[in-house]
Amino acid sequence: MPLTPMKQILDEARKKGYGVGAYNVNNMEQIQAIMAAAQKTQSPVIIQASRGALKYSNFTYLKHLMIAAAEENPTIPLSMHLDHGNSLDTVKKSIALGFTSVMIDGSLKEDGKTASDYAYNVAVTRSVVEYAHGYGVTVEGEIGTLGGIEDGVGSGSIHITDPKEAKKFVDDTGLDALAIAIGTSHGAYKFKGAVNLALDVLKEVRALIDIPLVLHGASSVPKELIDAVNKYGGKMPGATGVPMSSLKEAIKLGVSKINVDTDGRLAVTAAIRKVFAESPEKFDPRDYLGPARDTLTELIAKKMEDFGTAGHASDYKPTTLEEAKRFYK
Ligand code: G3H
Ligand code: 13P
Ligand code: ZN
Repeated sequence: MPLTPMKQILDEARKKGYGVGAYNVNNMEQIQAIMAAAQKTQSPVIIQASRGALKYSNFTYLKHLMIAAAEENPTIPLSMHLDHGNSLDTVKKSIALGFTSVMIDGSLKEDGKTASDYAYNVAVTRSVVEYAHGYGVTVEGEIGTLGGIEDGVGSGSIHITDPKEAKKFVDDTGLDALAIAIGTSHGAYKFKGAVNLALDVLKEVRALIDIPLVLHGASSVPKELIDAVNKYGGKMPGATGVPMSSLKEAIKLGVSKINVDTDGRLAVTAAIRKVFAESPEKFDPRDYLGPARDTLTELIAKKMEDFGTAGHASDYKPTTLEEAKRFYK
């Protein structure tokens, strides 16, 4: 089955009220783990790559790994999504590689660090919508700003989405899915004190707009993974994430796409550290990348159950870019 435009995966999720995880990848083991989890739980799935991931994998490697993932899992609806694209140029490169969905993050300027103004966000998002829809490719945009600590994906300060502005943004751009800022942030240190999500804002946005909503910075930073990382020589004091109960609430209130990168990184790191600490004589990469892949599979399969994605792989026949192209025309 060829890769599917993300719009269909999200529209179907919205219809039935479940969430679909969008999991970040950089290499083969991560892709294999996500696909194994999707097979195990019979879930549709979104795999996403950041600009950093594209660079790390030298673009072409990722393209062929995704083709392999689709080929090996013909019954799983699978979308390949560009995460935090920052320019029409990056979007064009991703579509040329075969991505079936792109995010244009116009909430920040092209440097990825400077907050943008509304007019800039609309202009860059519209240019991407016009281009991507010509190929049948789904477009996600963002209004409001997440906090963040990773290079190029956060300005460090959070600006909660204004629901009325969100509505205007959707009307002004014609995009397919909207990421909103309700108090989450990227990385493993999300909250200093109590977890505080602006679920009232989510409710208001949901009432005003009629396309799928996206939650970035949605890793839960599970305590058992942080404990394992720290136990085997890591140093991550005070790491916190979004509790699964809050994510379930957000899904109930209308979030369809849930972005997860940090938890995957933690699972891989915990497993590798364990092998290194317990078996220092080992030096075959398969001896630590294998357990890392297994731990990641388990983590993601559990998320697929929790988000309600499990069991929905065969609900619908995945569409193609060609069909989506006709739809946009
Ligand atoms: O939201 C962004 C992801 O966590 C990607 O991070 O740019 O370090 O690959 P990255
Ligand atoms: P986390 O850092 O919470 O995993 O968020 C990832 C993300 O939003 C990718 O776009
Ligand atoms: Zn993000």
